[in-house]
Amino acid sequence: MSRFHSLKIKDIRQETADCVSIAFEIPESLQKEFSFKPGQHLTLKTTLEGEDVRRNYSLCSCPSEKEWRIAVKKIPGGRFSTFANEQLNVGDSIEVMPPIGKFVCETKPEQAKHYLAFAAGSGITPVISILKSVLKNEPESLFTLFYINQRTDTIIFKEELENLKNLYLRRFSLHHILTKEDTGSDLLSGRPTPEKIKRLAKTLFELEDVDEYYVCGPEDMIQGIRDTLQELGVEKDRIHFELFTTGRKATSGPKWTAPQGAVAARITITIDGNTFTFDQSSPEKTILDAAYETGADLPFACKGGVCCTCKAKLLKGEAEMEVNYGLEPDEVASGYILTCQAHPKTEELVLSFDE
Ligand code: FES
Repeated sequence: MSRFHSLKIKDIRQETADCVSIAFEIPESLQKEFSFKPGQHLTLKTTLEGEDVRRNYSLCSCPSEKEWRIAVKKIPGGRFSTFANEQLNVGDSIEVMPPIGKFVCETKPEQAKHYLAFAAGSGITPVISILKSVLKNEPESLFTLFYINQRTDTIIFKEELENLKNLYLRRFSLHHILTKEDTGSDLLSGRPTPEKIKRLAKTLFELEDVDEYYVCGPEDMIQGIRDTLQELGVEKDRIHFELFTTGRKATSGPKWTAPQGAVAARITITIDGNTFTFDQSSPEKTILDAAYETGADLPFACKGGVCCTCKAKLLKGEAEMEVNYGLEPDEVASGYILTCQAHPKTEELVLSFDE
C-alpha cells in the first residue's frame, strides 16, 4: 500500500497567470517507489486550517526526463490549488504519495501507432507526459493533439508544445481549439460540440488511421467526446479517458440517502498487513469517512469516485457505491469498491486494501 513521503520542492515555474508547475526532489532511496508510467498522477497532502486536504495532480514530465513535475492550476475557491500557487516555495517540503493511475500509455520502440488526444485546460498534464514519451520512445508513431482552452493566454505548456512540434514536425500535429477567442477557423473556435468533432474527423484526421484515443478534461467534455467517438464507430477499449474533477462531492450535488435496508455495520479492514475492526453506526456515511472518524489512516484523494486511491476489496458483506467513475466493470465484479463512495448494506463487512 502506498504511503506518503515528505518531498522537497526543487523548482517552481509559472506556466500561465494562474498555473504553476512544481518539480520535486526524489531521494535515491525513493526513486524506485516513485518510478512512473506516462499519464500517472501524484497525490499531495497538506493541512489547511486544521483540515487534512489532499489532491491528485498528474505528472507532466515523462519518465525518461528523470523529473517528477506536476502542474497545478488555480481554481476559483480551490483551497489546495490556491495554496500551491500562492504559498509553496522552492525548498519547502510537502507530503506526496507515489505515482498511481490507469490513464497510461506504455510505449514500445518497435510500435508504430497513431495516437490522438483531446485535452482541455489542465487536462493537458497527463497528455503531455504521454505525448513526450511517444515522440521520444516510438520513432515510428504519430501523435495528433487537439488542445482546448478558453484563450491563447490560458494555454499551459504553450511554448513546450510549440518546441515539440518543431522538433517532431512530421510526427506531431498540434491543433489549438479556443472556446473564447476566434482562431480564424470555425471548427477550432468555440466549444467542441459533437457536430464539430464529427467534422474534425473528416477534415483533420481519419478515424481509421487512429489506433488509440486519449481524452482528458472536465466530465461534460470527456463524455461528449467519448460518446461522439463511439457514435462514429470507435471501440470503447480504444478510448482512454481521465476525468478531472474539482471536488464535486465536497461542494455540491444531491445528498446521498441510505438505501432501503442499509444498516449500521461492524467493519473489519486490513491495510499494510494490519487489521482493525470498528462499528459504523450511520450507514449514510461512507466507509472511508466512518473509518477516518475512528482515527484510521486510509488512503484517499479526490473523494469523488474518480481517482481510485481509496480502492479496497470487499471480502465479505455487501456495499453500495454512490458513484463510480474509476473502477472498471471487471474490478467491480471482482469485489473492488471505492471506499469514499461505499455504504454498508450488510451488518458485517470485511475489506482489504492489500489485495
Ligand atoms: S478517493 Fe478518489 S475515488 Fe475515492
